[in-house]
Amino acid sequence: MSTSLKLNIDKVFGFVSKDKIYANKAAAEANVRTLYEKTGVGSDFTGWVRLPSSITEDQFQAIEQVAGFFRKEVDVVVVVGIGGSYLGARCVYEALSDNFWQMKAKKGPRIIFAGQNLSEDYLGELIELLDDKSYGIIVISKSGTTTEPGIAFRLFKDMLEKQEGKEFAQRNIVAVTDARRGALRNLATQEGYATYVIPDNVGGRFSVLTPVGLLPIAVAGFDIRALVAGAVEMEKDGDEQVLNYAIARNALYQDGKKVEILVNFAPRLHFLAEWWKQLYGESEGKQHKGIFPASVDFTTDLHSMGQMIQDGERTIFETVLSVGDQQHEVIIPSDDEDLDGLNYIAGKNVDYVNKMAELGTRLAHVDGGVPNLLITLPAVNERYLGQLIYFFEKACGVSGYMLGVNPFDQPGVEAYKKNMFALLEKPGHEEATKAIREKLKN
Ligand code: PA5
Repeated sequence: MSTSLKLNIDKVFGFVSKDKIYANKAAAEANVRTLYEKTGVGSDFTGWVRLPSSITEDQFQAIEQVAGFFRKEVDVVVVVGIGGSYLGARCVYEALSDNFWQMKAKKGPRIIFAGQNLSEDYLGELIELLDDKSYGIIVISKSGTTTEPGIAFRLFKDMLEKQEGKEFAQRNIVAVTDARRGALRNLATQEGYATYVIPDNVGGRFSVLTPVGLLPIAVAGFDIRALVAGAVEMEKDGDEQVLNYAIARNALYQDGKKVEILVNFAPRLHFLAEWWKQLYGESEGKQHKGIFPASVDFTTDLHSMGQMIQDGERTIFETVLSVGDQQHEVIIPSDDEDLDGLNYIAGKNVDYVNKMAELGTRLAHVDGGVPNLLITLPAVNERYLGQLIYFFEKACGVSGYMLGVNPFDQPGVEAYKKNMFALLEKPGHEEATKAIREKLKN
């Protein structure tokens, strides 16, 4: 087995010397060992490291069985979750789906995501949409107590029970949560829902290859075995590339490049970048340190953010995701009159033009002072996405350790919740409610 994902860091050397970058290689290698040996900070949450190669046939079958049930029974599956309990499934779903899936007929259920925001309009419009649909719910929350998915689940469970009856709802709701703890676990036991367990030692943003991601992806009809097989390839053979990514971005950070922009030239990868931003943002942004993860969809955003990247403050570097094969062939037609002046590219594929835009942009940005890392995927399919997911996860663990933070906790996420609960007067938060009222007076 070998990986087909390729990383090229040549366009970093003009900014930070090879020697400086590779000086950190031994330390990064030690961090890989730390991950495997569970001797670093946060090691209780490194269960994802050997996860791909440890998924069993029984586990695949258990997921495929429920996925098969949903695919036969319902038109829509509402996947309820937020953060790490949402973005992994969403990024694979969007990457593998037709760009216009909402408007095209399709075999199997449509997947709709909910519980990832508190927008009343979003929920209200989804309630309207589901009113005459047959649907099931996959509710995902490791803690089982997160407010956003909690509210969405309460709404859609209630609606399903009223629409179809309690028995139908019980058959068509599946919970993915902790083995023992949390309100969702208790509720699922009480209601008799089928459940899947999120392993204790895998944190939300590293959980896409557990039932958190695999179940919704299988329900959508995608090949979870190929996805995991790709991740296994990266687990076994990918360390060299993982280390190079970690040391290159770390050297750039030490050199004052504080923002990393993940760039795609394929809109289907938009949510891949959303997943990546959570992975790196929540893992590295601690103790007033960390590379700020940003993203752009090119060429679209070249017409909005291009100026800033080319010419703004020189604190950024780019990591470009470049995709080889397209699934469609679209040739630019010739036009006798050539009024739009495009005959010079007549007969070419649109992707050829896209690739020239990609190369031209990389060169322009490097010339403008933006170091460039290039990740090439032969195509967007389950296997290469599996490779990419594991590549980013492992590099994230290594990078976090290089930065000197615990990459596996997220204490900062609690601050907004504390205020929100105080403002909502949640029982048990009386002191905080008083304090925040005082603060708002001033
Ligand atoms: O990565 C994380 O740990 C977080 O983003 C969580 O996944 C997110 O806050 C949702 O938590 P939960 O799954 O407990 O509802």
